[in-house]
Amino acid sequence: MTELLIRGGTVYTPDGPRQADVHVTDGVITRVEPRLAANGKAVDATGMYVLPGAVDVHVHSRDPGFTEKEDFGTLTAAAAAGGVTTVVDMPNTVPAVDSAGVLESKAAMAHSKARVDFGLWGLLRSGTTPEQLEDMAAAGAVGFKAYLAYSFSLSRKQVLYSPGVEDPDLEAPADYGTLARLAPVVAQLGLPLAIHAEDPTVLAAFRRPLLTYDDLLESRPPDAEAVAVSAAAAVARESGVHLHIAHLSSALGLQAAEDAMQVGTSMSLETCPQFLLLTSQDFDRVGTAMKMLPPIRTAADRDALVDGLRRGVISIVSTDHAPHTDEEKSQDFERAPAGSPGVQTLYLSCLQLAKDLGDVWRAPRWASQAPAELVGLGEHKGAIAPGFDADIVIVDPRGKTSVQAEHMRSRQRHAALAGKEFDFEVKEVFLRGEPVTRGSRTRGRMVRPAMVAG
Ligand code: NCD
Ligand code: ZN
Repeated sequence: MTELLIRGGTVYTPDGPRQADVHVTDGVITRVEPRLAANGKAVDATGMYVLPGAVDVHVHSRDPGFTEKEDFGTLTAAAAAGGVTTVVDMPNTVPAVDSAGVLESKAAMAHSKARVDFGLWGLLRSGTTPEQLEDMAAAGAVGFKAYLAYSFSLSRKQVLYSPGVEDPDLEAPADYGTLARLAPVVAQLGLPLAIHAEDPTVLAAFRRPLLTYDDLLESRPPDAEAVAVSAAAAVARESGVHLHIAHLSSALGLQAAEDAMQVGTSMSLETCPQFLLLTSQDFDRVGTAMKMLPPIRTAADRDALVDGLRRGVISIVSTDHAPHTDEEKSQDFERAPAGSPGVQTLYLSCLQLAKDLGDVWRAPRWASQAPAELVGLGEHKGAIAPGFDADIVIVDPRGKTSVQAEHMRSRQRHAALAGKEFDFEVKEVFLRGEPVTRGSRTRGRMVRPAMVAG
């Protein structure tokens, strides 16, 4: 039996924060009470926050297919460094995760490299059959992702570049008919359906060469997000499927989502730190690291998203961690691919936002508890309570962290949040009771949703 005691910290429990010791046996939390006695190792957390490890439900590992940009080793090293103990990888790797066979081989590869736990999304596209979805669910997919815009390329030459146009090299979008056809199947499986919400017909109308940041903003108007959210909600509502909106970026998109929720659509909204902490005004300082899809928009959009989070309408903060190489990102604006790393700064971003909103304890809800519940892991991850995995992050609320390229563990070191200062520092991270430090041998495992029906 391996025992661990984390003593003297302020612990985030399902009932809120309290002073307590956390006792762990064989990787599982057994007791959360004041003044427990130590049998084995004891870690002094006096003056520290003791938080559940974050669950980032939106990362792009690039593995397999584009490992010059990132792989499961670098992704999960960055995650571990920032207190993210579970990552859930998007299916736009090569080959795309569109069948149980591809999912299983990706899982085996990821298992050999992962330093934190990981889950996998399956792809839902126009040609997808109900059997494919059922087989991916049986193989452990946490849910399915549908891209409603021309978004990513399955060619090895490049991952994604946004065009909103028909290009044989680009993955064709899933149309609303496909969503209508397959939503009942996903609902029956009890899994969430996540969408990249940009409407391709709106994008087509605003297409232009992307020479400047303003071109990017004009080419991806918030209308595209709002239309896709409304239409997807309309076709999914009757099926009862749980619709998850990935990387919500605009006030208009948020309004469309709230309208759909008001009429009873089962929905969760995710936004990302870059949409909450940056605006288009930051582009002059940050440069192409800020180029991503959907784009970082105006101060009014940022304020609406922060307010959505404050009101609890937006419940999940994940990162859309989407690295490229620094060489690719240092090309001119038009050629630089879209996406930025972010997983390493997820928890710090959430703590800072929560502190600025006056309640720091919202951070573990946005970054850990709500995302764990979305992907069916809510019984084992997302809280510090008996029976839960001992995925634990010790944070110093008097520490300071400044986001610097040399501290980033991803292949792409210049992130959109470069230069940001946080009033917190991640001190120690445990995955199932084992410290996940630089030299540690701790291995991540694949996580599977608990509630697969049928
Ligand atoms: C993502 C990628 O590169 O895979 N890029 C991005 O700008 N967000 C794609 C995505 O999340 O849709
Ligand atoms: Zn993404």
